[in-house]
Amino acid sequence: MVKVDVHINYVHAQWSSRWVFVLAATGSAVGLGNIWKFPYMVGQGGGGAFVLVYLVCVVLIGIPIMMSEVLLGRRARRSPVNTMRILAHDEGASPAWQFVGWLGMATGFLILSFYSVVAGWTLAYVFRTAGGVFALQNPERIKALFGVFVTDPHTVLAWHTLFMVMTTIIVARGVQAGLEKAVKFMMPVLFILLLALVFYSMGSGGFDAAFKFLFKTDFSKLTPVVILGAMGQAFFSLSLGMGAILIYGSYLPQQSSIAGSTIMIVSADTVVALLAGLAVFPIVFANGLEPASGPSLIFETLPIAFGQMPGGVFWGTLFFVLLVFAAWTSAISLIEPAVAWLTETRGLGRMLSAVLTGGFAWLLGILTIMSFSDWAFSFRFLGVAKTNGFFDIFDLVTTNITLPLGGILIALFAGWKIQREHSREELQLRSHAGFQIWLFVTRFVSPVLVGMLLLYLLFGQYFNA
Ligand code: PFF
Repeated sequence: MVKVDVHINYVHAQWSSRWVFVLAATGSAVGLGNIWKFPYMVGQGGGGAFVLVYLVCVVLIGIPIMMSEVLLGRRARRSPVNTMRILAHDEGASPAWQFVGWLGMATGFLILSFYSVVAGWTLAYVFRTAGGVFALQNPERIKALFGVFVTDPHTVLAWHTLFMVMTTIIVARGVQAGLEKAVKFMMPVLFILLLALVFYSMGSGGFDAAFKFLFKTDFSKLTPVVILGAMGQAFFSLSLGMGAILIYGSYLPQQSSIAGSTIMIVSADTVVALLAGLAVFPIVFANGLEPASGPSLIFETLPIAFGQMPGGVFWGTLFFVLLVFAAWTSAISLIEPAVAWLTETRGLGRMLSAVLTGGFAWLLGILTIMSFSDWAFSFRFLGVAKTNGFFDIFDLVTTNITLPLGGILIALFAGWKIQREHSREELQLRSHAGFQIWLFVTRFVSPVLVGMLLLYLLFGQYFNA
């Protein structure tokens, strides 16, 4: 195999074992998307009907695309931009494929910019809950507190800054001393906290209602917008389509099974999303509250519930600590592709690369912060009114457009451009049928499904007319 000369002689570190890769990728996947977004999207999308479509997307789109990302990353062992460039050269494809890497890097910055702001809210809520701010307060006041908090740019900026510094420090320390150490500590803690919270919720008296809400299927709510939302959520939740999993795959030791690891990561992410629903909704129903459909579910409804419950200060604090850990292990994967690219092509050290990328995402985050106060303009998207300016734009553009677009391109590249012998060699699937299924789904099923949904997004208004 002739390698293209892209002036790279930088060799990245590797995870110390395949298990660390599984933990790190699960850490990337499990985040605010599972615990903050998934429950309220289920609320908006008709409960079980949304869950069902989500699961179909995870199996038909999530698994094959995640395998493709890991395959590409491990084959080239470079940042997404250079991975696409090197592989395109080796396989005789157009150098324009490196666009996928650039799109991914831009998407990572956009996501991290608003992700860090919301993660900053959760940091603030750890201290507020622990300080007993919500105990025995009336619901109106708790709602008002959230409103006052998010519309105060200075306070939110301080928390956003703290979270971005926390993220940058981990990334600056490198693959083994930074990322690997962080996920080895945080992921087990995260699972234990989540299980403890589900047990606590089970005893709250609202478990049956929550179970029905999550799994009762009302197909009348399944509009194309909801289906599109479920697909976008699958991409977002599994960290697919922007190179985060690709870069983690590039640190994977050579002999490790890609299919087995992918199935573990995808299953863990899905189980955590469902468990998060089973932790959140019983508490909401047991306290006679409505499952708010929107970001306020976690920051208004839950604090009201915790404020009324015995032990609410303790469990509420644990809940927000869980969210911080989940967000932290995801945020590090959002800038890793850009950091790896800077170290490879610009010869910068990890420290400087991390500070530059973290700093840029931090600056962009100011647009999100202002979306809740001075720049809260409204607009319509697919007939739905959105009122939080840049925050909603960044979320919609990345979740519904650039992640799925990046995902289709990755599937097409892995399925059509990488020669079969190469992909088979890299995937090391024991059964021939398994490889054929992966190839078929990656070549046809995922791109067609995602493509149809994207076309609907762009031209749906004409069908409805
Ligand atoms: N998967 C993360 C979540 O569910 O919160 C968000 C995310 C991380 C998206 C990394 C994309 C990504 F590359």
